[in-house]
Amino acid sequence: MSSDEIRRSFTEFFVERGHLAVPSASLVPSALDQSVLLTTAGMQPFKPYFLGQASPPAPRLTSIQRCFRAVDIDVVGSTDRHLTYFQMMGNFSFGDYFKPGAVEMAYELSTGPFGLAPEHIWATVYEGDDQIGPDDVARDLWIAQGIPAGRIVALGEDNFWKAGPTGPCGPCSELYYDRGVRFGCGRAECRPGCDCDRFLEFWNLVFMEFDRGDDGTLTPLPAQNIDTGSGVERVAMLLQGAGSLFETDETSHVIQELERLSGRRYADGGDAVRSFRVLCDHARGMTAIATDGVTPSNEGRGYVLRRILRRAVLHGTRLGLETPFLGTVHEAVIESMGSGFPELAQHRDDVRRLLEAEEERFAQTLATGSRLLDDLIARAREEGASNLHAGDVFELHDTHGFPVELTAELAREAGLGIDLEGFERKMQQQRERARAAARRGDGVEAERIARFARSAPPSEFVGYDELDVETEVLAVEPLAEGLALVKLARSPFYPEGGGQVSDAGSIHAHGVRGQIESVYRLDGDQALLVRLDGELRAGDVVHARVDEARRRATMANHTGTHLLQRALRNRLGEHVKQAGSAVRPDGMRFDFTHPAPVAQDELRAVEDEVNRVVLEDRELRVFETSQEEARELGATMLFGEKYGDVVRVVDITGYSMELCGGTHVRSTAAVGPFTILRESSVGQGVRRIEAISGSEALGALRRADRAAKEAAAALRTAPEQLPDAVAALSERVRELEKAARAGGGGDGAGPDLSALTATAAERGRLKVLVAEAPAGTLGDSLLELADRLRGALGPSAVVLGVRDGERVQLVASMTPEAVEDGLDAAAVIKQIGPIVGGGGGGRPNMARAGGKDATRLDEALDAARSMLSA
Ligand code: SER
Repeated sequence: MSSDEIRRSFTEFFVERGHLAVPSASLVPSALDQSVLLTTAGMQPFKPYFLGQASPPAPRLTSIQRCFRAVDIDVVGSTDRHLTYFQMMGNFSFGDYFKPGAVEMAYELSTGPFGLAPEHIWATVYEGDDQIGPDDVARDLWIAQGIPAGRIVALGEDNFWKAGPTGPCGPCSELYYDRGVRFGCGRAECRPGCDCDRFLEFWNLVFMEFDRGDDGTLTPLPAQNIDTGSGVERVAMLLQGAGSLFETDETSHVIQELERLSGRRYADGGDAVRSFRVLCDHARGMTAIATDGVTPSNEGRGYVLRRILRRAVLHGTRLGLETPFLGTVHEAVIESMGSGFPELAQHRDDVRRLLEAEEERFAQTLATGSRLLDDLIARAREEGASNLHAGDVFELHDTHGFPVELTAELAREAGLGIDLEGFERKMQQQRERARAAARRGDGVEAERIARFARSAPPSEFVGYDELDVETEVLAVEPLAEGLALVKLARSPFYPEGGGQVSDAGSIHAHGVRGQIESVYRLDGDQALLVRLDGELRAGDVVHARVDEARRRATMANHTGTHLLQRALRNRLGEHVKQAGSAVRPDGMRFDFTHPAPVAQDELRAVEDEVNRVVLEDRELRVFETSQEEARELGATMLFGEKYGDVVRVVDITGYSMELCGGTHVRSTAAVGPFTILRESSVGQGVRRIEAISGSEALGALRRADRAAKEAAAALRTAPEQLPDAVAALSERVRELEKAARAGGGGDGAGPDLSALTATAAERGRLKVLVAEAPAGTLGDSLLELADRLRGALGPSAVVLGVRDGERVQLVASMTPEAVEDGLDAAAVIKQIGPIVGGGGGGRPNMARAGGKDATRLDEALDAARSMLSA
């Protein structure tokens, strides 16, 4: 049974038995349930029903819930049976049937529709504890179904199921399948519950009858309920005779894609197997989580996503994959599990963008971090240390974004440990600092910042020209541990304003280092929030350095918005007025007044114009002047801001002139490629354009190029011919669908011809048709089809091939006109037969051959096509 069929039989089975089928809930639990980050079980969405807080839509429900469990992440790949992401089939009773119904139905479906061999089925039951006795009821029920007492095992904790430390819970009873001794540990006492891969748990029946309190006491729930869970993947593994969860119909498709990308083979074994498996599992997981709306971040479920994505990238690079590859793998995931999870396809593009952006960011981190880590490992070895220092591990994490789990994993492989406790302490300290920072920023604190700023002379912003300065500290005010307000005499840090984000960067002085957390803009002044690793005093001389790469990207985007505004006005008219903007290192957003959507060709013209001005390498002149003169010069006034008497003018020579306080590149060439991502509405008469420039745009263009090349390769055409190839393909699909709908043929005798004849080419007065015949058109049917095609085409040459398992049959057939024109069926067959590893012959008007290699059929047909095209 395919995974699809398994899902369908499960649902049908329980619907026939009075259950209401409900769709899977999101992996992101309801806001009311804070007990888990991601849905870990089919019962999760039904918690309120078990607790009696809400009534279920029916007393019996069945669902197939997508689930994610991070607890097993470390063992994924090392066993046959662990996954983080899986689909859980379940049947639920809310005060309706209890143990007998649940046991009977589970056994019936397992041995009936699923066809599992009864003699391999084992069961486990709860052995009891000091609050409740052993579950003899369940034991007797299994025996009544026919499982011998010798195959029923009593287990402790494993057979008491709870959704969390508190909440609905109860004893459970599981079904296991004995896969045979060759999968096992070989110990005589190997039984269900053993850690090896011999006994596979495939169904858990929870007899949900208690609510567990904070102190562990069990209070009976309002009713006795049933919650069962059976993994689609595990059942598929059993029913498909797969060696592991990574060899089922859904997972093997992803593994095959990884084989194709890496050129390595899963079946070759060795260390690569774990990487194949981890990447396969994590790719499924990240696709699912991101599709349910989670974005990567440093906490909560965002971190779960980030973590599996990073592990996936690590294991991908171990397989030799070149980043970015997640987009392609994501596609394979959608192909393999899309039918059970339609949202995957709906969010295809958003999710792909998100995964690729995160992958790109991390690939860089991975490269830098791995290098630093190699040094640390070498040093630890030289020192004879068995652990990496906590400080180094923390710095890798904190400064370079290298995740500690990866550090631990890689260190372990080098035979070293890490001082995890020391690391945790440092993390804790940092969390406290972050909490302190988060408490800041309300009204009172703004007051405090203003007061602090007033305590010293104004700070001079020098960041238009300088990104790296030596300067004096004017004032310091310590906040919580490690955080302080700092004021510099000359500051290179841009404070957020005019749509442009604040700079990032650092300050250094006599061994003290500070990370800039925020830059506050105050009227004609500024203050910094700095995270310090030592003490800083007023009067200290510090080196202040702006994060240059980030700033350069931001400047390119700022100049980009000026170009965009001018180009929009040139194209659409002077009614276009800026209505807000955001300039960040990774892109720009520009809102403007315009009554209607901007047409695609207009957008393209705008994009072209901006790129033209970029290539013209126009110099930017920035100067201060009086407001009056600026107005006379025709400078665009922005931001609805009140301008002082002296204003700053940014002049892109001969192209645009705006009043602006932001930072800009020196000449337009530094903007680099400029790409509009999308245009949308943000309200009545206001449009929004999102665009990228510089290396961000380069990356996007490269990704698009790669996608086009991959698509073109898959369609065996050149990238520039892709639109035509896709159009032809859709046309063909439409025809085939039409043919299929027509029910197998215009005259009721064999396949509809029009789909095939439509692909015929012209050759003088002849039609030339070379095609693969529908599957199953073998032997005489193939000859017959060739005849019918000739009949339909008139004067023609027809060459057909058809796959017969691994073998191939070929036929060439010419009308008298074709023979007259010098075409020779026997010659064609002689030429193309050997390509498919066979031979044959015939006469000028008809010849046939058989071959052994179906994989080369397309090649053979191509050869025939070129022979007949002259
Ligand atoms: N809640 C139980 C489990 O997750 C049965 O569905 O195993």
